[in-house]
Amino acid sequence: MSALRKIPVDENFRMDLDGLQAAIAADKQAGYTPFLIVGTAGTVDVGAVDDLTALAAIVKSEDVWFHVDGAFGALAALSPTHARLTAGIEHADSVAFDFHKWTQVTYDAGCVLIRDPALHQATFTQATGYLAAAPRGLAGGAPWPCDLGPDLSRGFRALKVWMTLSTYGSELLGGIVNTTCGLAQRLAARINACDRLELLAPVKLNIVCFGITGFSDEQTAALVADLQEEGLFVPSTTTIKGRTTIRAAIVNHRTTAADIDGLVDEILSRV
Ligand SMILES: Cc1ncc(COP(=O)(O)O)c(C=O)c1O
Repeated sequence: MSALRKIPVDENFRMDLDGLQAAIAADKQAGYTPFLIVGTAGTVDVGAVDDLTALAAIVKSEDVWFHVDGAFGALAALSPTHARLTAGIEHADSVAFDFHKWTQVTYDAGCVLIRDPALHQATFTQATGYLAAAPRGLAGGAPWPCDLGPDLSRGFRALKVWMTLSTYGSELLGGIVNTTCGLAQRLAARINACDRLELLAPVKLNIVCFGITGFSDEQTAALVADLQEEGLFVPSTTTIKGRTTIRAAIVNHRTTAADIDGLVDEILSRV
């Protein structure tokens, strides 16, 4: 943890680039060598996307590795109307994202893309006699799984990813991005139209964070737990600016406008 620098965010929950540059300067001044900047495409709490183009420019001038955590947000790139939100991601040295989120694959199906295959392999490959690279034979011509990551034995996760992509295709999957982001905007509009509800973060992707006017943190947490336990709706909670917040992350392709309206109506019936 002592090597980690948390960078403040701006009012839209995006990384504060002045704060980043100040942290880099302070580290250099103290004799440290910054080597990695991690940007986020879709933060967990509110779905904010950093200015990845501006981050890439800082990365270039500092000559550091640029990783983007795009666990769910990177796949906004599947949607022609939302891909612009991830602009700049193409400059990353590595991008991590999950097929088990917006692309509907069952748990777990994380993925990391690394631009430079030689650096990737050099990071993990170990010189053991029984895993030597062979030009031919059963394991000839291909890297061992542990040349590409920590695991040697691993399951065939790629099968379900391949089946999903080949069955549905990127156009239909991109359509899910559009639909769920549209539903998030619908929820935001319902919240904005209602005196008892307050939107607590801008809605850029498919996550909507909101509160109930006059409700304490305990009341908010109890209401969400009731909705979950009664099997009605499954928002989660998070903390924004010190306040317990209702968080709706709309990911499932089966979610409809009626579900969104039902959530709002159900909450209003209980406040
Ligand atoms: C931005 C972000 N990073 C990381 C994670 C963790 O991903 P995983 O659970 O696949 O490790 C998530 C969500 O779970 C996420 O939304």
